Amino acid sequence: MKPEHWLFTYEGFEPAKEGLREALCTLGNGYFATRGAAPESEADDTHYPGTYLAGGYNRLKTDLVGRVVENEDLVNMPNWLPLTFRLEGGDWFNPRAVTLLEYRQVLDMAQGLLLRTVRFEDRRGRRTRVEQRRFVHMRDKHLAGQELVLVPENWSGRIHVRSALDGRVVNGGVPRYRQLNCKHLRTLVTEEVDAETLLLEVETVQSRLEVAEAARTRLYVDGLPARVRRGLAVEEGYLSHEFELELREGQRLAVEKVVALYSSRDHAVSEAAMEARHAVGVAPERFDELVATHVQAWSQLWRRSDLDLELTETDHIHTALRLHIFHLLQTVSPHTIDQDVGVPARGWHGEAYRGHVFWDELFVFPFLNLRLPDLTRALLRYRYRRLRRAREAARAEGFRGALFPWQSGSDGREESQRLHLNPRSGRWVPDVTWLQRHINAAVAYNVWQYYQATADSEFLYFYGAEMLLELARFWASMAQWNPSLRRYEIKGVMGPDEYHTGYPYRTEPGLDNNSYTNLMAVWVLCKGLEVLKLLPGDRRDELLETLSLSPAELAHWDDVSRKMRLVFHEDGVLSQFEGYEQLEEFDWEVYRKRYADIHRLDRILEAEGDTPNRYKLSKQADVLMLFYLFSAEEMRELFERLGYPFDAGMIPRTVEYYLQRTSHGSTLSGVVHSWVLARSDRPRSWKLFTEALKSDIADVQGGTTPEGIHLGAMSGTVDLMQRAYTGIEVRGDVLHFNPNLPEGMKRLKFSLRYRKSLVEVEITQDKLVLNSRWRSATPLEFELRGERYLLQPCETREFPIKRPEVTAEGTLDSAGP
Ligand code: BGC
Repeated sequence: MKPEHWLFTYEGFEPAKEGLREALCTLGNGYFATRGAAPESEADDTHYPGTYLAGGYNRLKTDLVGRVVENEDLVNMPNWLPLTFRLEGGDWFNPRAVTLLEYRQVLDMAQGLLLRTVRFEDRRGRRTRVEQRRFVHMRDKHLAGQELVLVPENWSGRIHVRSALDGRVVNGGVPRYRQLNCKHLRTLVTEEVDAETLLLEVETVQSRLEVAEAARTRLYVDGLPARVRRGLAVEEGYLSHEFELELREGQRLAVEKVVALYSSRDHAVSEAAMEARHAVGVAPERFDELVATHVQAWSQLWRRSDLDLELTETDHIHTALRLHIFHLLQTVSPHTIDQDVGVPARGWHGEAYRGHVFWDELFVFPFLNLRLPDLTRALLRYRYRRLRRAREAARAEGFRGALFPWQSGSDGREESQRLHLNPRSGRWVPDVTWLQRHINAAVAYNVWQYYQATADSEFLYFYGAEMLLELARFWASMAQWNPSLRRYEIKGVMGPDEYHTGYPYRTEPGLDNNSYTNLMAVWVLCKGLEVLKLLPGDRRDELLETLSLSPAELAHWDDVSRKMRLVFHEDGVLSQFEGYEQLEEFDWEVYRKRYADIHRLDRILEAEGDTPNRYKLSKQADVLMLFYLFSAEEMRELFERLGYPFDAGMIPRTVEYYLQRTSHGSTLSGVVHSWVLARSDRPRSWKLFTEALKSDIADVQGGTTPEGIHLGAMSGTVDLMQRAYTGIEVRGDVLHFNPNLPEGMKRLKFSLRYRKSLVEVEITQDKLVLNSRWRSATPLEFELRGERYLLQPCETREFPIKRPEVTAEGTLDSAGP
């Protein structure tokens, strides 16, 4: 692979940006992840070396403003990185205490390596060159490694090297959480296994998750094992090896640290510490051997997941998209298949949102469905395993079926906090975001989309159908009949826009008839009814019996799905919720002048003693989510089912209306807005896309990325390329194409999995080329702009592309696919 667009490079050492770099240079393999912190660093105002095990949570209680709050957190596990040195008579290496002659950090995404080059001169005029490499092994998920190469450029003398495992860490990565208890670990074992191997085992204090790390450190001078003096230091939760040796000018010292990490939840293990010690003992002798297999695993993953682009202007776009795919694959990888984990909104890259799982998988699965569908399956099973809890939650709130939590962690209970700190005002304010019941539509949508992309009937029969039915049942039970309107209504919820938590004149939180929620509920009910027709008779009867689903209940679903209420503004624009039209217009100009950054208007207004609930303003796409998830055709079908007139012109008007009233306080917002404009206004869509692409790289939300990447926005931007501009849809058992590349793009190429086929897709401004790759596959049936075609195994077909006509109202499919 050519290095072009594969390297993410930082020149110079900038302490103020270190947190951001650490998040963006995180290395992981879906099993565990380690932030890209310098190996000599400790948690302080500049650095935060965090290591997180996928799904490694623990609960702690804190007394806060007179209440006991309990949170479940993704735990910062022992730091395996420490590997540093000091020259004779000097201090341990600190880039701030020397003169830096060269400093570069490179994330090599093709190879999954983090590289750092440092050349420095110390106070005594000694010049030294240091090269570091690091991996978290993509094939052997338990292994990670670091190499430190040091060359004295103009001196000879003694050097000390220290390699450690540090379990004294706490969860301190998010300043807003610092008032909360943060000590999740207690030490079980600190042991020197042999002269080159250390072992540390800890346990989370509540969830009793044991995590063991073993580190093997070897030193070589000019390629031969080095003669060293060794020392050992042990204290509670920490142990280090210190090595002392003589180096001559120009010699090359290589220190290789290989680490094995195991937990008590792993399969095929006896006990974590025992396995870690064993694994590090039998690991290949040299660092390079491990790098070779790691790089091979990455190149295989890239073959399945890359997006090849040609743009008129070569710039950062390609690299940024690869960075997004890279972090997605480090969060969820083939190792996920064997684990019980969900999609963490902020990756396993930091402690923001405590590693919780929200609805963001809605933005992640579409990419995976067409690339690595086994991952979606595994991640949906995370939900399935928590169906029991979801049923309990529905019952506890007086509903039927299953109610998945807005924030999910280890056991599937609601993990949303009830109070959150507004850093601007310093006040703890009630948090009612758990009222986002639409999570229950997202899970159903995801099950259906996965099935559409894969036709995985085993999954549908044994897991998916049950989830869909329980979710449909939930929505039917939430809908209340309004006899005067002769419509069903859904009351007391929040839509995706988190700025609106309730009515300014009502004490109870929650809103009524949120259009997104109501229409999604209708869709889920339709799919609940449809899935029963898809199941083989025996399985359908089993499910009807197990779930006690009676014909009367199903008839009720059908009724709700035809009579749900939608609220419109006077001019036909779909209302975000009942009463939205009566809210005050917000003075955007005044606030844009008053504040440099108005992404988080909720915090600004709360600090001013005001509330967003009074205004027509949104944090993120809410109504527009509908046009993101459904094509105009599907919208029309839903409207017709409900007996509301559907006018295609309503879509562009609605898009425009909300776009003008959105602050994009969530990184998901840009993705959705770019998507819904992808066909009607390509330049504006492209602008929003490039802004969404910068969300993490430039940390546009001002300080949130250092606490963890935004996985939904990362995947969403890649999916925009993959589906919005190609018009790919998996719907009605057919793969649809409707390409419409943005003007700046010459060519887009990727391979796609659809059911039994693997297809190479190439799109330019004027043609679509499809090449079917699997010989054993059955022909692929697909639709291109309404025409049906077949692609035989190993066949290549080329189609010219004509531009769709854009009318003043936008094209009919202006909502995007
Ligand atoms: C957004 C939610 C999202 C959550 C986690 C919030 O800021 O408003 O839609 O699920 O972040 O990413």
